[in-house]
Amino acid sequence: MKRYGIIFILVIVSTFLIHTWLISIGLFPIEASAQSVAIDQLFHVHLWIISFLFSLIMVTLIYSLIIFRRRKGETGDGAHLTGNSTLEITWTAIPLVAVLILAFAGAKNLGAIRVIDPSALVVKVTAGQWYWQYAYPEYGVTSTELYLPVSRQIDLQMTSVDVIHSFWVPEFRVKQDIIPGRIVELRVTPTLIGDYKVRCSELCGLRHAYMEGAVKVLSQADFDNWIAQQQSAAPISPELRGQQLASSYGCTNCHSTDGSAKTGPTWLHLFGSNVKLSDGTTVAADEDYLKTSIINPNLQVTAGFPSNVMPDFSTVLDQTMVESLVAYIKTLK
Ligand code: CUA
Repeated sequence: MKRYGIIFILVIVSTFLIHTWLISIGLFPIEASAQSVAIDQLFHVHLWIISFLFSLIMVTLIYSLIIFRRRKGETGDGAHLTGNSTLEITWTAIPLVAVLILAFAGAKNLGAIRVIDPSALVVKVTAGQWYWQYAYPEYGVTSTELYLPVSRQIDLQMTSVDVIHSFWVPEFRVKQDIIPGRIVELRVTPTLIGDYKVRCSELCGLRHAYMEGAVKVLSQADFDNWIAQQQSAAPISPELRGQQLASSYGCTNCHSTDGSAKTGPTWLHLFGSNVKLSDGTTVAADEDYLKTSIINPNLQVTAGFPSNVMPDFSTVLDQTMVESLVAYIKTLK
């Protein structure tokens, strides 16, 4: 009985020490969203359980190794035990109850972080290899950086143009995979003004590790200013807009503008040239050809390049955007 008492005390002391250590190493970045509070609460419950279970096992193990070690002159075997029903029922029942309680708490928290606010600000997110692009339909504004007003729920409607990406701002805690050909939703309510970073947390190719983007949470007044600025920005020429689109949508990751070889055909001297296609025919690279190639890249594939490589931009780029891209490609004549 005395040994149980010693183990009990050691387990309690160890639990507090391990828990203090886990807290002190800074496992969590700052909480910057309403959703992060509920998630962190659950995490902290788990940290206590982890500390306790680790202590229970390690203290008992180390204590037994020392106290029940084979001493000098001892040659016999230990006592032979053949089962203990009370113990077996106990170690089945306690984890069962614990798991049920955690499942209930988890479901309750999931409900809390998924609450839908009908007045949420809709931001359309496009992910691609390897960039983030945002559109604010309410204001007719697009951006390559995510600007958000503080204390308002954001309804991120996300899609991918190529492979699976994943939207993750650690300070917001919530995370969502982005599936090509589908619109997935993620709701987050930023609560802390500041600069953060979105990271892609799904392995998505060569530059996955660099698929980061700025996230700025602003006061409502600063956000309104930013929107007004974007809306009143002097209209830029289609050529310049096309150049910006080519970079923000990742076109130039595959199509060089200086004639160098990349995954796709170069854009240098493309317009007005005669393009040899993989079916042996030749086509004049006029505006129609360029538009078709952007929207339906597998229709006329340039000889020497594989088909089914270019992402589907037909749902991402509207007609004006395509025309801007064509205008830009024309300048590379
Ligand atoms: Cu996108 Cu990893």
